[in-house]
Amino acid sequence: MPIPEQFAEVLRGVENQTYQTAWSLPGRFYVDEEWFNIENQRLFSQQWVCVGRVEELENPGDFFTCDIAGQPVLLTHGKDGKRRALSNICLHRGTILVEESGSSDRFTCPYHRWSYDAAGQLLTAPRMTGRKDFTSEECRLPEYFIEDWMGFIFVCIGSNPQDLNKQLQKATELIQPYHLEEMKTLYRADECWEVNWKCLLENFMEGYHLSPLHRTTLHKVNPTRLCKHIEPGDIHFGYTVGFTSRLPEERVGHSDLTEEQMDTCVMVAIAPGLAVGIGSDYCSFLCLQPVSAGRVKVKIGLLFHGDNWPEEVVAEAVSLFNDTMAEDKAVLLRVQKGLAAPSHASGPLAKKDFEGTIFDFFRYLSRSLL
Ligand code: FES
Ligand SMILES: [Fe+2]
Repeated sequence: MPIPEQFAEVLRGVENQTYQTAWSLPGRFYVDEEWFNIENQRLFSQQWVCVGRVEELENPGDFFTCDIAGQPVLLTHGKDGKRRALSNICLHRGTILVEESGSSDRFTCPYHRWSYDAAGQLLTAPRMTGRKDFTSEECRLPEYFIEDWMGFIFVCIGSNPQDLNKQLQKATELIQPYHLEEMKTLYRADECWEVNWKCLLENFMEGYHLSPLHRTTLHKVNPTRLCKHIEPGDIHFGYTVGFTSRLPEERVGHSDLTEEQMDTCVMVAIAPGLAVGIGSDYCSFLCLQPVSAGRVKVKIGLLFHGDNWPEEVVAEAVSLFNDTMAEDKAVLLRVQKGLAAPSHASGPLAKKDFEGTIFDFFRYLSRSLL
């Protein structure tokens, strides 16, 4: 499907802008359902999409589900030790096979009770004997590409995935010392926000609003003035933000970290669907599953370095995170309304350290969509 000219023209314009001359995108990019379908087809259906953490499939039998650009996906960990991303649609008459998460070595469709193993092999199809053109041995749920990176699971439902680790080489160098793959998820939540997925990603990825919007929450910890832009890569972009000196000196973290890294929070997006805020002691992440132009499902988690975290310390981190997110959500609902208004027009972006990531994201969109 060709890109409508009114969208293509704006994206071509992005290519000619610089950090000093960048403008926000027109509202139609955030409210138009046809444009949303194009993004789904060219970004989420073709590229690597983060769907969760490796820990969610820690043991054989563990499973969970997700949705990538309208494709229901079942993530499993087989008896053979392999993690798989399978189509979550019954091969009989198309029922969604699994809706929950948990542990099982058999997945049975509720409709006529066809059952499958964790490798997607059809095991039983009751009363289906006698058809010459059908044997259950030959039936298997389609399988998608799966990779892990830093403890995150990425799936590509497209036919021609890029080399994820190569694409993320620069991002890996940047955040390797924090060892996210060793961190443990101590908080998880699933939410649905009535905003465009790009608004959520842009918001998580810019430091300009940290002090003004999060005056009583994040500003005390990571103020706007300490934000520094990071050179973007093929599919990642981000910024770092220092901690205010008022915070306690001793911070825990991996022994690979330098003192400067210990004192710096790295905010990284792996487009299109993952955003991570990385501190030496704990991280937050968002996995985005867009539902429509004005709605996005968000898988949220907080990861902690090392063991023996007192419950009240974790609760404090969760509470700061949730208070901050509530402030973001409230303002993004207002943004979404403004973007939908007929009089909305693009506005100028703040300097590179504060909103350069937004421009990086637009350039990623332009590279991927034009
Ligand atoms: S649709 Fe699944 S068994 Fe019939
Ligand atoms: Fe925020």
